[in-house]
Amino acid sequence: MHPMLNIAIRAARSAGNLIIRSLQHVEHLDITTKGLNDFVTDVDRLAEQEIINAIQKSYPEHAILAEESGVQGDHDTVWVIDPLDGTKNFLHGFPHYCVSIAVVVKGRIEHGVIYDPLRDELFSASRGDGVKLNDRRLRVTKRKELAGGLLATGFPFKCPQHLPAYLATFNAVFPQVADIRRTGSAALDLAYVAAGRLDGYWEIGLEKWDLAAGALMVEEAGGVVSDFTGGDDYFNSGNIIVGNLRLHKHILDSITPHLTDELKK
Ligand code: IPD
Ligand code: CA
Ligand code: CA
Repeated sequence: MHPMLNIAIRAARSAGNLIIRSLQHVEHLDITTKGLNDFVTDVDRLAEQEIINAIQKSYPEHAILAEESGVQGDHDTVWVIDPLDGTKNFLHGFPHYCVSIAVVVKGRIEHGVIYDPLRDELFSASRGDGVKLNDRRLRVTKRKELAGGLLATGFPFKCPQHLPAYLATFNAVFPQVADIRRTGSAALDLAYVAAGRLDGYWEIGLEKWDLAAGALMVEEAGGVVSDFTGGDDYFNSGNIIVGNLRLHKHILDSITPHLTDELKK
């Protein structure tokens, strides 16, 4: 295993343990609003600090891009951290959230770890080395058509100006599939596509820390990841479509006619 993946795993597990310990006092947490419908708690901040400490012990020179504390340092290697993906679920006692850590070297995602502390499920990937759930290798599903498929998506709760276009994409996809989930954790949605638990996924306006680790996992599981043009700028645009080769194309073809000019990226 690559030493950086090893450190990412250690950091994700210790942040996950902190999240679980904090469940006992979740009703007394100090909740701050960062933006529209966007909240942060001490647990997010403490988990993030735990991760940063673990990384800096081994790689003090590397840069950090973390959701709650922003950018630290300037280096070719950047650790991209979401200490708690699914904060709203966490706050409501809805048991579905995770820690997500990616290592990006010269703009390319090289390693990713997503840890679900409630299920003790550790997803890990290194570029060219495949993706695992705990010790088991993962592959995307083999489904050829949307019919019968189970997809996930995210609602644009932070950018309501995109709601009409988003709903038009939903209307276009929904009648073609068996069902669609909205789980509240983008990172786990991506990991679940890699694991073949979902056939595909799309969402508007994600941040780098939401998608970096999971996007690598989908690719390493044999899937396709793109932005809304079918190109590979999803890391910057935050608009993402994933699935196996065929389903990715079906989702892309279904949603593109409904996108506004602003979303064609
Ligand atoms: C959010 C979750 C959610 C997605 C949002 C993200 P957070 O992350 O991943 O599923 O729809 O766009 O911001 O705020 O819980 O880390
Ligand atoms: Ca997130
Ligand atoms: Ca978060």
